[in-house]
Amino acid sequence: MSDFVIAPSILAANFARLGEEVTAVLDAGADMVHFDVMDNHYVPNLTIGPVVCEALRRYGVSAPIDVHLMATPVERLVEDFAAAGASRITFHPDATTHVDRALAMIRDLGCHAGLVFNPATPLNVLEYVMEKLDVIVIMSVNPGFGGQSFLPSALDKLRQARQLVDASGFDIRVQIDGGVKVDNIQEIARAGADTFVAGSAIFAASDYSEVIAEMRSELSAV
Ligand code: DX5
Ligand code: ZN
Repeated sequence: MSDFVIAPSILAANFARLGEEVTAVLDAGADMVHFDVMDNHYVPNLTIGPVVCEALRRYGVSAPIDVHLMATPVERLVEDFAAAGASRITFHPDATTHVDRALAMIRDLGCHAGLVFNPATPLNVLEYVMEKLDVIVIMSVNPGFGGQSFLPSALDKLRQARQLVDASGFDIRVQIDGGVKVDNIQEIARAGADTFVAGSAIFAASDYSEVIAEMRSELSAV
């Protein structure tokens, strides 16, 4: 992976031809596939589960698959997604009583582990689990839907997360999720993000490689 990672969210892809969409966006220069799992309970929407992840692997997708669990409970899904070929599994700390155990479980199953923070969720839980993390995800929209506007309060939170990571000395990615576009990606990177989830900005474009190249050009100026 390059220093800056671009992860298209397949929530915005055409689900009727998902395999082709994922191949196209990877061929267009994306680094990682962001896979949004919604359960109509933790968030008011319902999407895709482990069988779809497994289907993408069978289709031949070899890039990292970044599974974002917006679901509760998380433990059972962690096992199923690890078996289905997930590379990385992230969950919201308020979606389980046992954050520490769930993080350990993800790594034990051979995946990278991460925590995701909603706009109003404080980062204080990080204090106790830094050594168990591979990624911290800051939500810049309320989870549940694609195509929402970036919440500017996420920028301060990114700065905080970046500081915590740098002070910890651990190799932890700082990821932003929600409302990322060509015209704000540079500011987001300056606030400390190194990994960028973008759904509608990429899949709504007629040429995926053009928008990914535009994002990289913005990032090259950081
Ligand atoms: C929101 C999801 C995001 C979403 C991003 O609940 O976690 O990953 O797909 O979509 P855009 O980039 O359209 O905001
Ligand atoms: Zn997501």
